[in-house]
Amino acid sequence: MEDEEIRARSAGVLADDQADEEALAGLVALLHTARPAWNWVGIYLLAGEELVLGPYVGAPTTHTRIPVGRGVCGTAVATGENQVVADVGELDNYLACSTSTRSEIVVLIRHRGSVVGQFDIDSDTPAAFGAADEALLENLAQLAAPRCARLARGTSP
Ligand code: SME
Repeated sequence: MEDEEIRARSAGVLADDQADEEALAGLVALLHTARPAWNWVGIYLLAGEELVLGPYVGAPTTHTRIPVGRGVCGTAVATGENQVVADVGELDNYLACSTSTRSEIVVLIRHRGSVVGQFDIDSDTPAAFGAADEALLENLAQLAAPRCARLARGTSP
């Protein structure tokens, strides 16, 4: 599916009159379907110094809570920068979700200037993510931010 169609459909899913959890679950399901190489698509919500797993599609993961600074996900929050990893095998600070994963992207979700969560996407294809994917996900992050902020508040310790 083209980026423009993903953007339009995502806006529809997020504007829908449904609860935050359902709307974000709809968003990750849409992304998973739209991009066959995106094998695991999830949203982590920031709760204090921990990332808490929110809606996702893909294999169940043991990483349901990730401290800031750990793994690719925690590094994104600690540095304030998105992470695009072409080959996860080259990382020391990597938390394996699935042994088949080869590349990963993490894009931060900010609301009113503060990080409230992130998209985390894994692919079984090496170097599956590029600048266009990062730009698309940054755009979707803006659309999803208010709902993520509300959910993140609910998961705070
Ligand atoms: N790979 C991530 C952990 C999350 S799982 O991939 C779903 C990391 O290194 O932070």
